Amino acid sequence: MGEQSLASSTQPEADQIRQLFDRIAPQYDQMNQDMSFGLHRVWKQMAMRWSGAEKGMRCLDVCCGSGDLALLLARQVGPTGQVTGADFAVEQLAIAAQRNLYLQDRLSWVEADALALPFDDDRFDAATMAYGLRNLTDIPKGLSELYRVLKSGARVAVLDFHTPTNPLIVQFQKWYLQAIVVPTAERLGMSEEYAYIGPSVDRFPAGPEQVNLAKEAGFASAVHYPIAGGMMGVLVATKS
Ligand SMILES: C[S@@+](CC[C@H](N)C(=O)[O-])C[C@H]1O[C@@H](n2cnc3c(N)ncnc32)[C@H](O)[C@@H]1O
Repeated sequence: MGEQSLASSTQPEADQIRQLFDRIAPQYDQMNQDMSFGLHRVWKQMAMRWSGAEKGMRCLDVCCGSGDLALLLARQVGPTGQVTGADFAVEQLAIAAQRNLYLQDRLSWVEADALALPFDDDRFDAATMAYGLRNLTDIPKGLSELYRVLKSGARVAVLDFHTPTNPLIVQFQKWYLQAIVVPTAERLGMSEEYAYIGPSVDRFPAGPEQVNLAKEAGFASAVHYPIAGGMMGVLVATKS
């Protein structure tokens, strides 16, 4: 762990982030389930659909963690498709590789940095990323790597927290982080680890900025869809 606190308002270093996700891997799925009341599954399903993944496609889930979205993609592409889940936290990948064993023959789990993906250009038909972009130390680089590895005409759907525009919902989101997320993290013995969420959401570019960043990364079109009252959002970007 570096000098800087994870709760600091400045971006933690990549190594701190990797160690954090390795450390919380055993409790991570339970934490997601409890703090979103199971809704994260619905939002991930939306992101999977918006990526344009179809039967037989070769798909990529970057920052796959314990594999929720990669597993959804694997069901969607069917037995003739292939899905790669990429993450730099090996403890998360180890959990992903033990889930839904009947789907594993269409999945591969790759230890990789989202800022330097170990894949050829123009390789994937669709891509997803859930709650990863906000954690990257270089968001423009992460987007340009996604752009590089997608085929022409392919889409990426990026799900993450979002700061709502409605002031009442802003208040609700602050309450939710304090009253739901922090106690859930405390109950699972991870209060220090989850102190980073609030600052990371505050730092994260809003939807219109994400759209601009995607276009600067080369995407021909990009749209940000606020969901859950704007507390979450999905950036959908298409390569020309
Ligand atoms: C909040 S978790 C999300 C995991 C999963 N996508 C989900 O929604 O459940 C963020 C993930 O991003 C990964 N991550 C963060 N920065 C990364 C990077 N530069 N390269 C690869 N993975 C990264 C972390 O290891 C962690 O597993």
